[in-house]
Amino acid sequence: MINEVAVREALRQVEDPELRKSIVDLNMVRQIRIDQGRVDVEVALTVQGCPLHQRIADDVRAAVLALPEVESVAVHLDSMSEAERREAFARAWGRPPAASAESEPALLSPESPTAIVAVASGKGGVGKSTVTANLAVALARLGSRVGLMDLDIYGFSQGRMFGQREKPRLTADQRIAPWHAYGVDLVSMSMFVPEDQAIIWRGPMLGKAMQQFFADVAWPALDFLLIDLPPGTGDVALDIAQRVRRAQLVLVTTPQAVSTHVARRAAEVAQRAEQPILGVIENMSWVTCPHGDRLPVFGQGGGQALAEALGVPLLGQVPLEPAVRQGGDEGRPIVDAAPDSEAAQAFLHIATQLRTAVWAQASEASTRP
Ligand SMILES: Nc1ncnc2c1ncn2[C@@H]1O[C@H](COP(=O)(O)OP(=O)(O)O)[C@@H](O)[C@H]1O
Ligand SMILES: [Mg+2]
Repeated sequence: MINEVAVREALRQVEDPELRKSIVDLNMVRQIRIDQGRVDVEVALTVQGCPLHQRIADDVRAAVLALPEVESVAVHLDSMSEAERREAFARAWGRPPAASAESEPALLSPESPTAIVAVASGKGGVGKSTVTANLAVALARLGSRVGLMDLDIYGFSQGRMFGQREKPRLTADQRIAPWHAYGVDLVSMSMFVPEDQAIIWRGPMLGKAMQQFFADVAWPALDFLLIDLPPGTGDVALDIAQRVRRAQLVLVTTPQAVSTHVARRAAEVAQRAEQPILGVIENMSWVTCPHGDRLPVFGQGGGQALAEALGVPLLGQVPLEPAVRQGGDEGRPIVDAAPDSEAAQAFLHIATQLRTAVWAQASEASTRP
């Protein structure tokens, strides 16, 4: 069967004739729609009315038609926003390495090109860490450079989810090298503390730990830094949210009304901290039965209701799938382990939506007086 991952792989060989890099790596492929044998591809050109547009369209068509079972291909051309264009050119020509500023960590500086996305939830157990891990892998698969910071300091789980347990390595300049797995650079408290050891964090210690995660880690150049926040809307989450002023938030909820209620509280906190909310992700939305019926085990509508209440998009819904939990336990996120699965496809879809939301915010911010 034709799927989005295969189409994207095929498109990797198509180059932008001007920038001489794959249109996938340049994030020019906006959307892929598949309807039986028909494939629709939306490509964002770097400049409007790009003189080479015909050639790109032809190359895209030829690459996708070469896939088995594809009968027809329609190519839609659009042009990039200013923010997207900047990112594409930076990708093609490389960015100057992030400066290791003494005072303010480069990642936190207002000039940093890295989008910081903090993932929050009203309560624990809704799958916030699972969603964060899979979104990170999905963004990497879509060609973005992704870092993940596990700041769920009481319940850190990202080391396990990425199958990492080695002691951290120090770089030549005595900084901590992030773990690297499934295309993601990862830092977690479990680099320093065993997972089953309880820690009591007091304000100053928390500040120090965060400072280290930003300043003392040798982060490579990143397009996205995802942060796994502690659950809930208590002091810790708020403190972290406020320290990372540049962060934008994503809220994870289940379809249950009660969980929507708590997620809304998290959003209220974010609004007080004046941080933009990019959107809502609903997790554990349904179980797909062997005959294709969707069973809404945890109710319905929570994600949509929360998104509407906040006036932000519902970025997507993730089904409940045993392989998702298994991927987390075995240290291989499902987006990598089974990219064709329904849940992995949902994460890939959400990653494209998230990227679009981040770019929309960036271009809005750049036009603000
Ligand atoms: N979509 C899903 N399908 C199946 N299991 C899931 C899904 N999302 C999360 N889980 C499982 O639910 C449990 C809680 O998820 P976790 O990501 O640790 O939640 P949180 O970080 O919000 O506390 C884990 O065992 C995880 O594997
Ligand atoms: Mg967690």
